[in-house]
Amino acid sequence: MESRSAILLSSLLFSLLLSTTSAQLSSDFYKNTCPNVESLVRTAVTNKFQQTFVTAPATLRLFFHDCFVRGCDASMLIDSPTNTAEKNHPDDISLAGDGFDTVVKAKAAVDSDPQCTNKVSCADILALATRDVVVLTGGPFYPVELGRRDGRISTIASVQRHLPQPFFNLDQLNSFFGFNNLTQTDMIALSGAHTIGVSHCSRFSRRIYKFSPKNPIDPTLNLTYAFQLRQMCPLNVNPTIAISLDPTTPNKFDNAYYTNLQQGKGLLSSDEVLFTDARSKSTVDLFASNNDAFQQAFVSAITKLGRVGVKTGNQGEIRHDCSRIN
Ligand code: HEM
Ligand SMILES: *[C@@H]1O[C@H](CO)[C@@H](O)[C@H](O)[C@H]1NC(C)=O
Ligand SMILES: *[C@@H]1O[C@H](CO)[C@@H](O)[C@H](O)[C@H]1NC(C)=O
Repeated sequence: MESRSAILLSSLLFSLLLSTTSAQLSSDFYKNTCPNVESLVRTAVTNKFQQTFVTAPATLRLFFHDCFVRGCDASMLIDSPTNTAEKNHPDDISLAGDGFDTVVKAKAAVDSDPQCTNKVSCADILALATRDVVVLTGGPFYPVELGRRDGRISTIASVQRHLPQPFFNLDQLNSFFGFNNLTQTDMIALSGAHTIGVSHCSRFSRRIYKFSPKNPIDPTLNLTYAFQLRQMCPLNVNPTIAISLDPTTPNKFDNAYYTNLQQGKGLLSSDEVLFTDARSKSTVDLFASNNDAFQQAFVSAITKLGRVGVKTGNQGEIRHDCSRIN
C-alpha cells in the first residue's frame, strides 16, 4: 500500500515535472534531432529573399497573424478545400503568398536532411524564418525559442476577434495585444515591423478623402504626405496598388517608422495614434531617438509574441506538409 502510493506520488511528480518542462520553449530544442535546423532554414530563406524582397514583410506579417489566431501553431498555413480556414478571412487574404512560400521552401530544406525529416514543426520554421528576414533587412539578430507543435484546427471564425484593425485607437490596440500577454511597450515595438512592407490604399483611404464632414483629411496626417498619398491612391484606385508603410526607408528594418510618426507620416491610423495619444508618445519618442532601445524592445516583444498560445510536448503534431494537417 505504502509503496503503491509512493509510486503514485512519484509518477504524479514526474508528470508535473514533464508538463512544466514541456510548456517551455528552448533555443536548443532540436540539438539532438536536427542540429542544423537553423542553418537549413537560413539558407532557404536567404535564397528566397534574394529572389524577392517581399519575402521579408510577408513572412514577418504571417508570423504575427499566425500567433494572434490560436497561438503560434502554423494554423494560418492550413489550406481548406471549402475556403473556410484562417487564411481565407478577409484580413488574411492580403497576406502575401511569398510568406507561405518561404515556409514551404524552408520546410523542404529541413526535411531534405534525413536526420530532420518530419522532426521540426512548421510553427518553429516560421519563427526561425521570421528572425532571419528581420536580420536580412538590417534588424537585430536574436535567439529563437523552439519546441512549438503544429495545430490541427484552422477556422475562418476564429480570426475576427483576434486581429487588430488599422482604424483601432490605443485602447483597442492595447486590449488586443493584452489578450496575448503583450504590454503597450511590446505593442509599440512590434508595430515597428511596419518599417518594411506595404499597405493597400483601401486600408487608409478614409484618412485622405473622407475623414470627417468638416475635414476630408485626417488632421494628424502631415499635409504634404497626405497630398502625396492622394496622388498614389486616387479615388477608384486599382485595388492592387500598395504603398510603403515606411515612406523614408521602406526596405530597411530600422527605427524610421517612429521618426515618421513624429512627422505625421504614419500610414495607418493605428500607426499614427501611437504618437498622437499622450499615453504612448514618450515610447515613440524614445524609439525614434534611440535605435538600440527600439531593437532591444523589439527582440523582447517578438520573443514574447513567439510564446503566445504555443502547443508543446505531445499537444498538436509535427505537420508533414505545412498546408494540411497530418
Ligand atoms: C498594431 C496593430 C496592427 C495593425 C492594425 C496592422 C495592420 C496592418 C495592415 C492593415 C497592413 C496592410 C495590409 C494590406 O493592405 O495588404 C499591414 C501590413 C503589415 N504588417 Fe501590420 N498591423 C499591426 C501590427 C503588426 C505587427 C505586430 C506586425 C509584425 C510583428 C506587423 C507586420 C506587418 C507587415 C510586415 C506588413 C507588410 C506586409 C507586406 O508588405 O506584405 N503588423 N498591417
Ligand atoms: C511634413 O513633412 C515635411 C516634408 O517631408 C517635413 O519637412 C515637415 O516637418 C513635416 N511636418 C510636420 C508638421 O511634421
Ligand atoms: C498569458 O499568460 C497566462 C499566465 O502565464 C497564461 O495562462 C496564458 O495562456 C497566456 N495567454 C496566451 C494567449 O498565451
